[in-house]
Amino acid sequence: MSVKIFDTPEVQQFLRAVANLDGQGGDPRTKQIVHRLMSDLFKAIDDLDITPDEYWTGIAWLNELGTAGQAGLISPGLGVDHFIDLRLDAVDEQLGVENRTPRTIEGPLYVAGAPVEHGFARLDDGSDESGHPLVMQGTVYDAEGKPAPGAQVEVWHCDTRGFYSHFDPTGKQAPFNMRRTIIADEQGRYRFRSIVPSGYGVPPGSPTEKLLTALGRHGQRPAHIHFFISADGHRKLTTQINLAHDPLVNDDFAHATRDGLVCEVVERTDEASIKAHGMDGPFGEINFDFHLTALVDGVDNQINERRVRAAA
Ligand code: DHB
Ligand code: FE
Repeated sequence: MSVKIFDTPEVQQFLRAVANLDGQGGDPRTKQIVHRLMSDLFKAIDDLDITPDEYWTGIAWLNELGTAGQAGLISPGLGVDHFIDLRLDAVDEQLGVENRTPRTIEGPLYVAGAPVEHGFARLDDGSDESGHPLVMQGTVYDAEGKPAPGAQVEVWHCDTRGFYSHFDPTGKQAPFNMRRTIIADEQGRYRFRSIVPSGYGVPPGSPTEKLLTALGRHGQRPAHIHFFISADGHRKLTTQINLAHDPLVNDDFAHATRDGLVCEVVERTDEASIKAHGMDGPFGEINFDFHLTALVDGVDNQINERRVRAAA
């Protein structure tokens, strides 16, 4: 039997009381958001006739999610991270800002404080023996299309098992393995050596995976490499590249793949290339340039404090 009580004056007044909309104190913006979100939840319970048992199943899942520290893991899976990117794109369109290098989600696995290198860095410590060597290089360009010497390239990726250092359930990786900050050289160029990462999967048996399974979805990402690119006078670019050879390149549970960010890994087997990069044998090569955008009215209008909060 379905009942509808959402639109009654009693329930509407109750929602205002829940968020203390008509009372003193508190933070007005928080009150506004909580009022809206609770109203949307009440309406969904009413419209979909969500049963008490369904509701308490959801609460148990939220507790499990929080205990596992996975709110940041399910968020991209449910598309919120990508939706926020689409909104930032729309704001830029309104401002007339062109992003020659598209933004895409940060994901939950960045760690601040990686070693800083100039021009070139080796990201992996050689311990992932099944890793195929990789060289990635390119130029960071400023908003005028000129190379940006001194630009900062923060890069992080997972190993061939799909595990990131600092989040490796086997505890095998040293801190900051496959994480570096590279300062672009006089020509705005950066270059690094690492291994070709594999795809990533959400932790098996986790609350994140359980919800995706209930939706008939998988929790896999194609192989990818994350970046923050920054330079004086420019907005920080959050992006990643996705590797074209991965069968899931267009089936990413985190919805991060975008046109302009899919890269071929070109196999180099000739002696000249091997020597030029100081490699010991065949390796994969990715060439990719980053284009930054100028500050808007002197400020980065899209920066967020997620990193500051995570460090606190
Ligand atoms: C998730 C993991 C990633 O490596 C990533 O880039 C994005 C999302 C996740 O577990 O949600
Ligand atoms: Fe990732």
